[in-house]
Amino acid sequence: MRIEPAVSLVGHVAVPGDKSISHRAVLIGAIAEGDTHVTGFGRGGDTQASIDAVRSLGVDVEDVADDELVVHGGELRSGTVECENAGTLMRLLLGLLAGREGLFVLKGDESLSARPMERVADPLRRMGARIDTTGGHAPLEVEGSDLIAIDYELPVASAQVKSAVLLAGLTAAGATTVVEPVPTRDHTELMLEAAGASITRRPTAVTVERSPLKLGEVEVPGDFSSAAPLLVAAALVPGSDLTVHGVGLNPRRTGLLDVLERMGARVAVFNRRRAGREPVGDVQVQYAELSATELGAAEVPLLVDELPLVALLAAHAHGVTDVRGAAELRVKESDRIAAVTDLLHATGAHIRSRDDGWTITGVPTRLRGGRVDARGDHRIAMLGAVVGVASREGVDIEGAETVAISFPGFYDLLGSVVRR
Ligand code: S3P
Repeated sequence: MRIEPAVSLVGHVAVPGDKSISHRAVLIGAIAEGDTHVTGFGRGGDTQASIDAVRSLGVDVEDVADDELVVHGGELRSGTVECENAGTLMRLLLGLLAGREGLFVLKGDESLSARPMERVADPLRRMGARIDTTGGHAPLEVEGSDLIAIDYELPVASAQVKSAVLLAGLTAAGATTVVEPVPTRDHTELMLEAAGASITRRPTAVTVERSPLKLGEVEVPGDFSSAAPLLVAAALVPGSDLTVHGVGLNPRRTGLLDVLERMGARVAVFNRRRAGREPVGDVQVQYAELSATELGAAEVPLLVDELPLVALLAAHAHGVTDVRGAAELRVKESDRIAAVTDLLHATGAHIRSRDDGWTITGVPTRLRGGRVDARGDHRIAMLGAVVGVASREGVDIEGAETVAISFPGFYDLLGSVVRR
C-alpha cells in the first residue's frame, strides 16, 4: 500500500469501538445470566475471534449489525478455540475457563503462538487450575477444576494477566486479590462492577469473590488506540486540525494525551461524558512544534499500544527523547522495539534501540519516507501510514492489510481527513 504525503489533516471523525472493551463484552457476556446487548462493538479480526471463540464453546451470539451484538450467556461446553492473533482473547479466556467444567484447547496463529503464556498459566495453577502449555506457549490445554482464591502480585504490569486472574476468581472459593505495582487498564474491573460482581478496588489492588453476573447492556466507546494514529498525524503535519468524537478516555489508556501535552502539542478535550462506567469525550489536536520528553516504566502501561507513535513524535521534536521501561514491547504482536527502530530508521529518523526502549534524536522537519514492513503487526502498519502522511516522499507499506486486526476501515478514514 502506498501512502502519499499530506498537506494537512482536517476534519471531524469517529473511530470504531474499543477493542479491549469489545473483547470483554463478549467474554463476560458469555458467562453472564441472560442476554447482553452490546452497542458500539468494535469489529475487527481480534474481536471477531472472540465472537467465534465463544460460539465454538456453545454460546449463541447474534449479529444485529456490524457494531451491535446480542450475547446469549450460558453454560460453556468443551472444545477447541482458535484465538488467531488475539492475545487478549487467549489470556482472558484461559482465566475464564480455568474454573469451569470441561476440557478446552486454545490455539493461536504463528505470532500469538510465540508470545509468553506462563505469565497467565502460573498464577492460575496456583489457584489449582490444570493447564498445560506448549513450552510456555500456545497451544494451551485447560481442564476446568475447582479453584481456590489467591493473593497475587503481578510480576509484569499486564492488564491481561490481571484480568485472567480476576475472571478465574469469579469461580474460586474465597477472595482473590491481584496487586498491581503499576496501574494498568481497568476495563475488566469496571465491567465486572457493572455486572454486579462482588469486587472491591483499592489504589493498587483489586479483590473479587465468586459471584453471579448480569450485564444487560454494554455501550462501547470509540477506541483511543485507533484514534491515536490520527491524532498523532494531526500533531505532526503543519496546518492540521482534527477532532475525533466519542473516544474512550479511561485515564489508564490516555497516557498519550499527557505525553502530547508535555511535548507542546495543542490538545483539547470536549463533551466529557460516560458510556456505562467508561469515560468518553471528543479530542481535538492541532499542529504545533514539539519538544523532546522522557518516559519511564510507571507511565508505560498507560500508553503501551501507543509507544510506537510516541517514538515517531519524538523523531519530529526538538531534542533527545528517552523511552525506558518498555521491554514488554518485545513480546507484543511483533517485537515492537525492533520493528519501530527499523521502520523509523528506514524512513529517515535518528533512533537507537535499547533492551527496554529507544533513544530518539528529533529533527523538526518531515521524515524522508521509504519502504517499510508491517511484520504482521497492525500497530506497526498504522505507524507506517502516519509516517507516510507526515513524510516528504510518502511510504510504501508491505503487509498493510494487517490493520484489519483492530481497525478494518483505517486507511479510508485516514484518507477522508487528509488534504493533498
Ligand atoms: C490489553 C492489554 C495490554 C495491551 C493489549 C490489550 C487488554 O496488553 O497491550 O493490546 O485488553 O487487556 P498487556 O496486558 O500484555 O500489557
